[in-house]
Amino acid sequence: MLFCTSFLGNKNVYSNSVRMKIVHTIEDLQRALETPRREGKKIGLVPTMGALHNGHASLVERSVAENEVTVVSIFLNPTQFNDKKDLEKYPRTLEADCALLEQKNATLVFAPSVAEIYPEPDTRTFSYPPVDTVMEGAFRPGHFNGVCQIVSKLFEMVKPHRAYFGEKDFQQIAVIRAMVKDLKFDLEIVPCPVVREESGLAMSSRNTLLSEEERATAAHISQVLFQSRNFAAGHTLAETREFVIDTLNSIVGLEVQYFSIVDGYTLQDIDNWEDADFVVGCITVYCGATPIRLIDHIKYKG
Ligand code: PAF
Repeated sequence: MLFCTSFLGNKNVYSNSVRMKIVHTIEDLQRALETPRREGKKIGLVPTMGALHNGHASLVERSVAENEVTVVSIFLNPTQFNDKKDLEKYPRTLEADCALLEQKNATLVFAPSVAEIYPEPDTRTFSYPPVDTVMEGAFRPGHFNGVCQIVSKLFEMVKPHRAYFGEKDFQQIAVIRAMVKDLKFDLEIVPCPVVREESGLAMSSRNTLLSEEERATAAHISQVLFQSRNFAAGHTLAETREFVIDTLNSIVGLEVQYFSIVDGYTLQDIDNWEDADFVVGCITVYCGATPIRLIDHIKYKG
């Protein structure tokens, strides 16, 4: 039996898997990918920031089913956090993450340090209007620039055939697709459905920062979004928008930052249900005392 060792924080972790390897440097990552690449094996990449949950697990399962090699990156990317407090409180659970990934048969975990990824500040700028200027782009200035910085680096380092992203971050996928097109990355972006808790709450690493009570409160977000689909059948777009915002804001512990009903391709606001073939409602809500920023979306049409 082979043993792979890796240094996780201040602990040496021994894995008895013959398959999964944990590397921390770009050199080790590329060395580990040399043979499978030479043998023409398909490589799937699942980029993550750690604090893995069943949503991530579903991305890994899909990649394992579709590729011979699955690389999972775990990197809490500082450049995509416009709010440093948000970065500080982001959960870090590397040891548990690796245990989950081993169970899901990932091939390789890439968990680099910030210095490894950014030996010097990344001064590249990415701009993909109109998809990156609205919603998260407007409320979190610089966020998508940071996402493009890290994702483009990962694509260059791993050179995957396919890359897997959760649809929970609906706008992120649109921005990454625009970047792939712009930089001519030769790979397929695979969007994967939102995974929800039993209550309907979209799974997110940030959910672990909620108390039990706040988690129950947060469940209203998806419940109201689902109700709004029925409501939409007999109401205008503006009425539906108002229904979602007012209902959620009337719940103690929730505050809607924005709820936009958009064309699902351009992500631009629309005024009427007939204005687009693919219509999506994208929401960001602050929940609880801290408060924790949660996002979700609902497809109305298409
Ligand atoms: O969706 C995320 O977790 C992050 O934005 C990503 C794509 C891993 C880049 O840091």
